Amino acid sequence: MRVAMIGSGYVGLVSGACFADFGHEVVCVDVNAQRIADLKKGIIPIYEPGLDRLVADNVAANRLSFTTDLNEAVPTAEAVFIAVGTPERRGDGHADLRYVQEAAREIARAMAGYTVVVNKSTVPVGTGDMVEGIIREARPEAEFSVVSNPEFLREGAAIEDFKRPDRVVVGANDERAKQVMAELYRPLSLNAAPVLFTDRRTAELTKYAANAFLATKITFINEIADLCEEVGADVQLVARGIGMDKRIGPKFLNAGPGYGGSCFPKDTKALMRSAQDYGVAMRIVESVVAVNDARKTAMARKVVKACGGSVQGKTIAVLGLTFKPNTDDMRDSPAISIIGALQRAGARIRAFDPVGMEQAKKELTDVAYATDAYDCAHGADALVLITEWDAFRALDLARLKQRMAAPVVVDLRNVYRAEEMARHGFDYVRVGGRPHLASTGRSKPVG
Ligand code: NAD
Ligand code: UDX
Repeated sequence: MRVAMIGSGYVGLVSGACFADFGHEVVCVDVNAQRIADLKKGIIPIYEPGLDRLVADNVAANRLSFTTDLNEAVPTAEAVFIAVGTPERRGDGHADLRYVQEAAREIARAMAGYTVVVNKSTVPVGTGDMVEGIIREARPEAEFSVVSNPEFLREGAAIEDFKRPDRVVVGANDERAKQVMAELYRPLSLNAAPVLFTDRRTAELTKYAANAFLATKITFINEIADLCEEVGADVQLVARGIGMDKRIGPKFLNAGPGYGGSCFPKDTKALMRSAQDYGVAMRIVESVVAVNDARKTAMARKVVKACGGSVQGKTIAVLGLTFKPNTDDMRDSPAISIIGALQRAGARIRAFDPVGMEQAKKELTDVAYATDAYDCAHGADALVLITEWDAFRALDLARLKQRMAAPVVVDLRNVYRAEEMARHGFDYVRVGGRPHLASTGRSKPVG
């Protein structure tokens, strides 16, 4: 099948490359001329493991190409995907739909013959109706259907998630569009991925509901972690204990500095806002948003406490800046708020991230960047691990300690083993467990 992908960011590029890999003929479009020029030269604009190879292979096989001109992609395409950004609208937390509207107008101008317009961007219920209205107004005679096909991939595991998803959700209001979508996703059925067909509005809401539920799961375990610290329990074991219950499941129960990224923060707010428009108060989602926001400053206070009550004039080494490992994405990364709060409390920040430092430089000010984890620790009064990159898991602890001015480690992802840290002489503070203090060799008593 011939596919046009409007928007070649994380979702558009990964989806486009994966559809091409399944044998479809895909043209990826973007308004960003630099991005398209780079892609044509084989330069991948984002860090996503395996994507460079996947793109190169499919370009070589003539199944994947790039353009800034919709007219080179849309008229011959049977399915035209909208995969543009839907960021938080400034001021009110709603999803900003301007890029979706613009894409719809451009598709309307370029399309020829029966076309299925597939919205892959995360959007509020009713956006499909809006897209249909825009196209119908511009092209009253055109033959087309508008479908909702939300994307559930995670950054850092995007290709695997796309090719072997737990499910594909397709919201189609007519049989003809449903058949096109079934054909498009047929290769995935070989990977045993179920395709759930729904109506369009249900598919749109399913995406927000999934993200809000996952954000709730994380926020719930983060609150349990706070309680663990007070009562002397271990959140990792609590998470295992509850996760073994199949009704709960083990995933998304890692306590940490609060969720970040390009999706959960904006999608939870957008769901809350659109529910308010319909007169529905989503109190659970509202609490999740508020609790997660507050958590980032709470993490900064945890660092201050670990430093004996003040970070004024102290050097804090930060390991990991991106919102999660295996991505260079800094959007809504907890590191931004935590570092900001520490700086306001008078700390100097030295930071290192294996991949995200170029993006981080656009978000953070007055941060000194190190060349590796040991360089980062040099002269530091405390070291804070914010993002759990694999490269930080097996650090030479003796070498790390020797670099530091004071042996204080605040591990916001529970990567290290408390006893081992204490054995190496660190004062070790984690999330959802008692701090281990080298001075006593034991965990700090409760109460
Ligand atoms: P992104 O910012 O990485 O990419 C969007 C791209 O669209 C940009 O390159 C931009 O230049 C381009 N664009 C904007 N208007 C255009 C137009 N009129 N014509 C052509 N190109 C245009 O965004 P993303 O992270 O890929 O997210 C896209 C959508 O998918 C959002 O709604 C997001 O919520 C959703 N989503 C994202 C993820 C994720 O992990 N990033 C996962 C699932 C769903
Ligand atoms: C998320 C959704 O998982 C994905 O389905 C959707 O399509 C886009 O949004 P992503 O933002 O790429 O994907 O990453 P994800 O792995 O979900 O992590 C989001 C945030 O939650 C990160 O900051 C991560 O560190 C945090 N998280 C995740 C936790 O703190 N604990 C966990 O157990 C899981």
